[in-house]
Amino acid sequence: MTHEISVGDLTKDQARAELKRLSIVLGKANLAYHSEDSPEISDAQYDALKERNLEIEKRFPELEKAASPSHQVGAAPSDGFQKIEHIVPMLSLGNAFDDSDVLDFDTSIRKYLGFTSEAPLEFTAEPKIDGLSLALRYEKGRLIHAATRGDGKVGENVTANARTITDIPSSLSGAPETLEVRGEVYMSHSDFEILNEKQAKAGGKVFANPRNAAAGSLRQLDASVTASRPLKFFAYAWGQVSEPLAKTQWDAIARLADLGFATNPLTALCQDPQRLVEHYQNIEVQRATLGYDIDGVVYKVNDLALQSRLGFRSTTPRWAIAHKFPAELAWTRLEAIDIQVGRTGALSPVARLHPVTVGGVVVSNATLHNEDYIAGRDSKGATIRDGKDIRVGDWVQVYRAGDVIPKVADVDLNKRPAKSEPYQFPEVCPECQSEALREPGDAVRRCSGGLICPAQIVERMKHFVSRAAFDIEGLGAKQVEQFFEDGWLKEPADIFTLRDRFETGLQQLKNREGWGEKSAGKLFDAIDDKRRISLDRFIFSLGIRHVGEGAASLLARHYLDWPALKTAVSNARINDSDDEFWSELLAIDGVGQVMATSLVTAFHQETERQSIDRLVAQLNIQNVVQPMLSGSPVAGKTVVFTGTLEKMTRAEAKARAETLGAKVSGSVSSKTDILVAGPGAGSKAKRAAELGVETIDEDGWLAMIEGL
Ligand code: IVH
Repeated sequence: MTHEISVGDLTKDQARAELKRLSIVLGKANLAYHSEDSPEISDAQYDALKERNLEIEKRFPELEKAASPSHQVGAAPSDGFQKIEHIVPMLSLGNAFDDSDVLDFDTSIRKYLGFTSEAPLEFTAEPKIDGLSLALRYEKGRLIHAATRGDGKVGENVTANARTITDIPSSLSGAPETLEVRGEVYMSHSDFEILNEKQAKAGGKVFANPRNAAAGSLRQLDASVTASRPLKFFAYAWGQVSEPLAKTQWDAIARLADLGFATNPLTALCQDPQRLVEHYQNIEVQRATLGYDIDGVVYKVNDLALQSRLGFRSTTPRWAIAHKFPAELAWTRLEAIDIQVGRTGALSPVARLHPVTVGGVVVSNATLHNEDYIAGRDSKGATIRDGKDIRVGDWVQVYRAGDVIPKVADVDLNKRPAKSEPYQFPEVCPECQSEALREPGDAVRRCSGGLICPAQIVERMKHFVSRAAFDIEGLGAKQVEQFFEDGWLKEPADIFTLRDRFETGLQQLKNREGWGEKSAGKLFDAIDDKRRISLDRFIFSLGIRHVGEGAASLLARHYLDWPALKTAVSNARINDSDDEFWSELLAIDGVGQVMATSLVTAFHQETERQSIDRLVAQLNIQNVVQPMLSGSPVAGKTVVFTGTLEKMTRAEAKARAETLGAKVSGSVSSKTDILVAGPGAGSKAKRAAELGVETIDEDGWLAMIEGL
């Protein structure tokens, strides 16, 4: 057997045979380790085989296969793939649904930059590929890793798999020393059909659409499976680069094409929003014959210096937008209306539909929004759908746009069954029988049960473990529901005491489908990993109404640590302008009356606060570290802008100050460090003078932050 022969003595044919054998043995070992939880060989044996594989490839480089086991970096952790942190976050895009949204996009950029409506402002326009995004990192021209988007901050290491994709070069010549290329992995329609036929014949998984097929194929633990799937890649963006690719988006894409990447041929340069819309229509006409799925057109500001001035909101760039294609429609029968109770008690009506295919996807549930919508009214009482109500048994129109939840859009009264009754929206919570109330001005009816309502408890915990919150591997919505039913979890804090309590109840857990000693151990480790949590994620995880990711991040950046935030919010007196805590909360730029009230109310509720305290006792909440602390003279300082700014708009000034680690506030107080006062500054300048706050003009401010 070739295994006995030392690498130095192998002939080329023997080496080829041995590499094949090793790839099978290692592939099997990987599968046993990752998917079946039952390793067949020891770690040491595994390492020895991998080392032998590497040695042979070193001696016979020409025999190295793209899907070689040596391209699988290290042993993946228990959840399948190693994690890779994105140095430049991978964000998503804001959406435009009609032409007026495109005009608004242009207008808001001009406003932010202080441009007149006549000033030149160019955009690129290109198809939005319906696949999954991938970041490829090249160092000194060599592909060193490939990562999926993940949650935008941390993705999965799929390097071995990416290397099997023909459109992805493994080396580049003439590229910047560090270059992270981003783009979309997708599957063509014809390849998708062939793959599904093959899968069906072999009794394997049949995919619902090319996007799912591409995602399923890229995220394979065994790279040789990915290699057998026909994946393609378009490059359209970049992350970290050691030197700029170009001065414009257009030239940067041309540069990526020169480096050997596939770029989309339908990309155009447009001088104004009208041209953007024309190009959108042009692409829409070609959509059906492109041979791959696209779900809209992406517009980007062409000038990269302007892109950088525009920067980002919390999850989307200001300089780009996705203009989506109109939704797909289908008609079907409404079989029932169910009421789901959400984390804040909202009663949401869900349409149970006779299954129907809408744009290639089978839909059997859709949202009906709220009780007014069912009755044929909008939130202000005006009629919608000509006032037609929606009833169980009706023939309804369903629409689906991209990945958003399908909606019931219309109803056909000609097909209404003779004996149908108007839908009676429940006035008690279907889960806990508490009264369900509608507050004036609120379109939504809410269960008043709070934490006595099992649905609210479960939904809060689902939110707690969700991706943008605690994101605990192996503890998703399904497990939370199961653990709640079995009595293991009653509140988020319970998650962190599971290990101790399971020691005694393990037998019980083992009796549940899918749980063994090993998988439970893995779960507890994953939970322990998340005890250390950033302040913004923690605030978001609490699931307080009106406190989303953006708000959580504002609060974290303002208060910097948990004790400060807790003290301020627990002591704040709602609507009392003499109260310093309340005034400080409202002075945070981006925090309004509604959010502040909701936050303070939550902290004033005794049961709620105790539940938060029990949770905090289990955690290690990280203080916010101000970005660029060392180089920035304004890091950690509270800055107020007032009067007219002449060199940049207020929005740009604020975003820039925050990037440099400053807190921007709307009002002057004893906590203000710097007041930037332009011409026309009034009461704020006076107050600053009274308090002895440092006051500078716009040029003084620009000089202070120059070069940063
Ligand atoms: S640009 C900062 N261009 O759409 C954002 N994205 O909804 C840079 N996508 O996560 C993205 N085609 O996966 C860009 N031509 C294109 C795209 C594209 C598809 C995806 C991408 C992104 C998602 C955002």
